[in-house]
Amino acid sequence: MRAGIDIEVREVGLRDGLQSVSTFFPSAEKIAWVRAEAACGMPEIEVCSFVPPKLIPQFTDAGEIVAAALEIPGLSVSALTPNLKGALRGFDTGVHKLNYVTSVSESHNQSNVRRSSAESVEDFRRIVEARDQHPQAAGTRLGVGLSTAWGCSIEGPVDADATLRLAGRFVEAGADELAICDTVGYANPTEVKALLTRVVGEYGDAVDIAAHFHDTRGLGLANVYAALEANVVRFDATLGGLGGCPYAPNATGNIVMDDLIFLLEGAGLKTGVDLDKLVEVREIIARNLPGETLHGMYALAGAPKGFQPASRIA
Ligand code: COA
Ligand code: ZN
Repeated sequence: MRAGIDIEVREVGLRDGLQSVSTFFPSAEKIAWVRAEAACGMPEIEVCSFVPPKLIPQFTDAGEIVAAALEIPGLSVSALTPNLKGALRGFDTGVHKLNYVTSVSESHNQSNVRRSSAESVEDFRRIVEARDQHPQAAGTRLGVGLSTAWGCSIEGPVDADATLRLAGRFVEAGADELAICDTVGYANPTEVKALLTRVVGEYGDAVDIAAHFHDTRGLGLANVYAALEANVVRFDATLGGLGGCPYAPNATGNIVMDDLIFLLEGAGLKTGVDLDKLVEVREIIARNLPGETLHGMYALAGAPKGFQPASRIA
């Protein structure tokens, strides 16, 4: 955790948001978004995904976006990879962190990355080995996102013990961070606190633990609060809640970054992010994706009278 910050928020809209948007977001505008959000004090941005360009054309410019982001002083730059091939592409760029994904639900893992969870762990071991041998990747950290940790739209309920077991395999295989993800917005705060308390208790000394929530059914920020009670201090979110789900019309995507900052800063937790400056960055998304609905109540209502964000209190 960097100095002066209580909670590390990470913008994932350029990846988790844009992956489901078919309109190509021009490369220069992606770079403008990254620069503008970094200038608000955002500590980490996941800027793209190293997936096959044929599968998701939105990320054809992945290498270019990482290169531009790496020039911004103080910003941690991360990117997603679904496999070894994507990791090798990422290592060549010198990206600071690669986020690898595996679903706890076998069916979701098959449909997302076309292999079993056990095969995903083996692939991750090869990624760790490749990182250790790669000349540009000595400092590249490896995160693992465990998707569908609180439920799966194919299988339904997901067993907490299964998430714990899979988490353990990735820690043993060399992960630096685990992000526990409610990919489809099934979690409620009681389950969030229960599972994350176990994950932090088992693995919190060995690796960083993050939480990744979707607001599909409106419980996103309540789940953040439950995760705080389990001592989680790292959260993913997207500016304006960009994202959504092709299978749930009008569903919101990730939790809204602007509202998350409002929650945390109001609760006395420093994020280092300037909220009012951040709200202005929404305009970059709005002008490039006029067909997308941007979410967020803070942007709509503004600050309460006399609001004092924790980061501005000396
Ligand atoms: N980057 C670029 N090209 C890649 C690649 C990558 N990360 N991974 C595979 N490819 C290429 C292969 O070289 C091969 O190319 P060819 O047809 O020219 O020979 C082709 O893609 C198919 O490769 P294969 O290994 O058979 O992949 P697959 O078709 O079994 O797909 C994944 C597996 C993991 C690549 C794919 O399912 C995927 O990208 N899933 C991620 C989806 C996603 O982003 N979900 C949201 C994030 S959680
Ligand atoms: Zn997500």
